[in-house]
Amino acid sequence: MNAGIIGIGRYLPKKIVTNKDLEKIMDTSDEWIKTRTGIEERRIAEDHIDTSQMAFEAAVKALEDANISAEEIDLILVATVTPDQPFPTVSCMLQEKLGAKKAAAMDISAACSGFMYGMITAKQFIESNSYKYVLVIGAEKLSKITNWEDRNTAVLFSDGSGAVVMGPVSEGRGILSFELGSDGSGGKYLYQDEYVKMNGREVFKFAVRQMGESCINVLEKAGLTKTDVDFLVPHQANIRIMESARQRLELPEEKMAKTIHKYGNNSSASIPIAIVEELETGKIKDDDLIVMVGFGGGLTWGAIAIRWGR
Ligand code: ACO
Repeated sequence: MNAGIIGIGRYLPKKIVTNKDLEKIMDTSDEWIKTRTGIEERRIAEDHIDTSQMAFEAAVKALEDANISAEEIDLILVATVTPDQPFPTVSCMLQEKLGAKKAAAMDISAACSGFMYGMITAKQFIESNSYKYVLVIGAEKLSKITNWEDRNTAVLFSDGSGAVVMGPVSEGRGILSFELGSDGSGGKYLYQDEYVKMNGREVFKFAVRQMGESCINVLEKAGLTKTDVDFLVPHQANIRIMESARQRLELPEEKMAKTIHKYGNNSSASIPIAIVEELETGKIKDDDLIVMVGFGGGLTWGAIAIRWGR
């Protein structure tokens, strides 16, 4: 029995900040941002909407989609580097808000790879028959740790959340293989003191290498090859990094999820947000072989090969 995704939902803040808006507050240009990152606009949460609220909105939709009640959830995992406060965790706040009475709850901190770490943690509990339903959420309010005077980072980051309910799925479907990894020696390239600090070039080099390798590794682990892949869902950090992973898998453009131009980089939320988008466009269908891959601060990375469907 494999663990898989049985319900999914997302929340995107209503407020849109375009590159032109950023031109007014810092020394940058729409042209620079578009060509270097692929971002045209991003979503920024209103002041009164914190990470837990965004996580809640996405979770409610995922539960509806899975057609199960909050009381049936055994475990809540929230991947975030922007919790409302250090503790209580976002996952505990959510447990109370949802009325998920029997659920254990914890946050996972693995930056932009957090959603991959969350899904793989959930898989262990489900496939060992310890738990049946696990709610996994990526939720970030990066705007509150962004220095709006630092053009190197401010143009990249955004807010949002995506949630999945994971549980047992029918034979042949669900997670087929995964890879998780970390390299603390690269921690100096991407970290938060008061705000996010980044050495963009070093992160870029790492991401290009790791995204491609992780995609190939999960396929090998599942006994599959590039030609088996129907769709790629990369972390939406930078279109050039995403393109390098797509080219490594020799996939045509239309077989890669792309939301970076509209939503920017919302860290652990980007993969589930992109999946919802591509389910709506009809590009992800039952029984498709999907590869998801992410990288982030830590440094951390993670990839999953999943046969879509319940
Ligand atoms: N507008 C205009 N100019 C800018 C801007 C901006 N917003 N930001 C930087 N520049 C300037 C730089 O100062 C530099 O000028 P200099 O040469 O005079 O010093 C010049 O543009 C070129 O900078 P590069 O670093 O060469 O630009 P690069 O092509 O590497 O693109 C970028 C920069 C987009 C940051 C890229 O390196 C990148 O995407 N790196 C990965 C970042 C990433 O994905 N981070 C998220 C990780 S996920 C997580 O865990 C949160």
